Order: sequence, then structure tokens, then C-alpha cells
Amino acid sequence: MTTTPFPLTVLGIAGSLRRGSYNRGLIRAAVEVAPAGTTVIPYDLADLPLFNADVEAQGDPSSVAAFKRAVREADALLIATPEYNHCVPGVLKNAIDWASRPARASVLTGKPVAIMGASTGGGGTARAQAHLRDGLSYTNGLVLPLPEVLVPFADSKFDAESSLTDPETREAVRDLLVSFAAWTRRMGAADEAVAS
Ligand SMILES: Cc1cc2nc3c(=O)[nH]c(=O)nc-3n(C[C@H](O)[C@H](O)[C@H](O)COP(=O)(O)O)c2cc1C
Repeated sequence: MTTTPFPLTVLGIAGSLRRGSYNRGLIRAAVEVAPAGTTVIPYDLADLPLFNADVEAQGDPSSVAAFKRAVREADALLIATPEYNHCVPGVLKNAIDWASRPARASVLTGKPVAIMGASTGGGGTARAQAHLRDGLSYTNGLVLPLPEVLVPFADSKFDAESSLTDPETREAVRDLLVSFAAWTRRMGAADEAVAS
């Protein structure tokens, strides 16, 4: 007997606020190529203030509360990171820092996460992704190990509207989502087994 897999909602965040961002384009491509049963919902980080523990102590600002709610309600998180100076851009790090609170009981705890990234350089965000993986390990997020989606020389793979036009990269994004959906469902099933 075959059973229909339960539908998944994946929150898609890009670590760039740039209108023509390739990483925002990668998230849009994920929306387009997601396999049946998986819905990717883009989320814009533009409204998040810089993390400040004094502000946090007064209660999360409304934009932070909305972001945390979106992460909590999603089954999983898909991140498209640029690479800035071989590392993760502040915009993305800031969002993760807000979401990681309170430590050990945050919306990232036990959350399945997949990573991809596009850069104009030849490394395709390899170093930024390594930093991101390392940082996310402290949040107790469940980061998908493979496949990696590294998109080097992004200016040759997106059109003037920053839509992903390169067929191989579109296929790689789809492959990532297929693996990620299986991983997320496996983690959810494991959760249910522990809870019962
Ligand atoms: C401050 C800064 C640092 C950058 N550092 C790197 C880098 O280390 N490696 C790289 O491949 N590209 C680097 N770039 C180029 C980015 O890959 C490029 O700007 C890319 O388009 C950013 O992603 P986005 O299109 O999503 O905004 C850097 C760009 C900026 C603005």
C-alpha cells in the first residue's frame, strides 16, 4: 500500500536585501521547482532590526516576533546565502541570531534546514556555507548534509530580472528540495516516534 506523504511548508530566506539579488532569485527558483507536496514560501528579512540584547529583554519587536512565528510554523527552513568576505552576510547572521533565542528552546531547535548559495566569485559560497553550517550547529537545527548547491559565477546563470535560467542549477535546486523533503519527513517521523 502506498501512502501520500504529508505536505510540507518550507520557509525560504535569502541573506541579501538587494533587489536584484541572485540569492533571492535562488529562493524564487526553489518556489518554482519544488516537488509535489512541498511549498516554498519566501520570507523577506528587510524589516529585522540589528540584534540587541537590551531590546530583546524588553520583548521581541513585532518584526522579530513575526519572523520567529514564520519559522516556527514552517516545517523546515531553506536558506540561500551570499558570501561576503568568505563568510555569511550580516543580514543573514542577524536573522539567525534573533531566531536562535532563547538558546536551546528557540524556533530553530530541531528545525530541518537546507543551505544553498550563489556568488559572483568562483567558490559559489563554499566558505560562507561552511561558516553557516558551523553556526547553525549551535542552534540545534537539523542541517541537511548533502547535496550541496554551490552556484559560482552567478552573473552568468541569472537573467536581468535575477531569475535563475541555468538548467543544471535549476535541476540542482530541485534535487536539493527532493532530498530535503525526505529528510524533513524522516525527522518529523522521528519526532512523532519520540513523542509517542
Ligand atoms: C561586502 C562584499 C563581500 C563579498 N565577498 C565575496 C566573497 O568572499 N566571495 C565571493 O564569491 N563573492 C563575494 N562578493 C560578491 C558577491 O558574491 C556578490 O555581490 C553577490 O551578487 C551577492 O549576492 P546577492 O546577489 O544575493 O546579493 C562580495 C560582495 C560584497 C558586497
